[in-house]
Amino acid sequence: MDKILVTGGLGFIGSHTVVELQNEGYEVVIIDDLSNSSIKVLEGITAITGKKPIFEKLDLKEKSGVEAFFKKHHDIKGVIHFAASKAVGESVQEPLLYYENNIGTLVYILKELKKLPAASFIFSSSCTVYGQADELPITENAPVKQAESPYGNTKQIGEEIISDTCKVTPSIKAIALRYFNPVGAHESGKIGELPIGVPQNLVPFITQTAIGIREQLSVFGNDYPTPDGTCIRDYIHVVDLAKAHVVALKRLLENKNKSNFETFNLGTGTGSSVLEVIHSFERVSGEKLNYKIVGRREGDIISAYAETSKANKELGWKSGLNLDDAMRSAWKWEQIVRKK
Ligand code: WQD
Repeated sequence: MDKILVTGGLGFIGSHTVVELQNEGYEVVIIDDLSNSSIKVLEGITAITGKKPIFEKLDLKEKSGVEAFFKKHHDIKGVIHFAASKAVGESVQEPLLYYENNIGTLVYILKELKKLPAASFIFSSSCTVYGQADELPITENAPVKQAESPYGNTKQIGEEIISDTCKVTPSIKAIALRYFNPVGAHESGKIGELPIGVPQNLVPFITQTAIGIREQLSVFGNDYPTPDGTCIRDYIHVVDLAKAHVVALKRLLENKNKSNFETFNLGTGTGSSVLEVIHSFERVSGEKLNYKIVGRREGDIISAYAETSKANKELGWKSGLNLDDAMRSAWKWEQIVRKK
């Protein structure tokens, strides 16, 4: 079966995607620099699938290291590229770190793919490219707006780099997957989200508050023009998201793509408010969550949720897990991680 490289394969979405690739019979090679993940995730993946992926610790900013890797693994047929820095706030403070790590490494990988006879490339993008969309739900034709952060800008620039490359390199076929809000964990409780430091995202902050690591969740504003006043997002279960990566990769490997560079929104198509997420968590966990309403967070958009018909039709993919499933699995994972 084809050999697939997963960069950032020990990260949250990366690890769940490795599991689904192995379940489909692919041979997986992981590159991770362990800057935002743990080698223990490799054990979790292996415990789930019974197959240990090849792992190479490598900083993709090391151009010579990337070249050596592809010399050794010249039989790679596809790449799913997750490796990137992804903290919106940090990117505002450290833009050059983000442009070097998220853009520089992408260029190095694409230069190596150009040398292969053929390559299928899946790029981890984000709904953040839309900013606050004028129309909801958000389709892939929604205008890409001025990025709200250097992080978001690296996703926009990344897509443009790939598109320009594919235009003149017929041997490379690519798909950018624009995620909405990935949440939850594998049902086994063996892999999940491992935020380092204080979580920036809502769901890990909820589970860490419930388990007692955080004192209280701050809800960033309830004066938005939404039904309950809190922001709305499209929370997609990470396992559904992982499965979408395998389907997108297959589309390219089997030459079913309609053009050399395609984009797909990956969401559930349903928007949930912050309070709805909290209530879902309380319902499935039986825990009363300690939270308080505070002021708005700088840069937050009001509402974003996906129009999913293109992914449904073209990829034959649809999310199957709902918000309660995500909260249940996130809570199970938090309890297991804290027991270790
Ligand atoms: C969700 C909602 C917050 C924390 C980010 C990235 C995006 C993508 C997904 C990578 C918002 C509210 C949050 C808290 C809160 N990442 N919130 N209290 O900002 O939609 O998107 O993650 O691709 O690129 O920007 O996700 O989880 O930070 O926030 O009230 O302690 O929860 O205001 O309304 P976001 P989030």
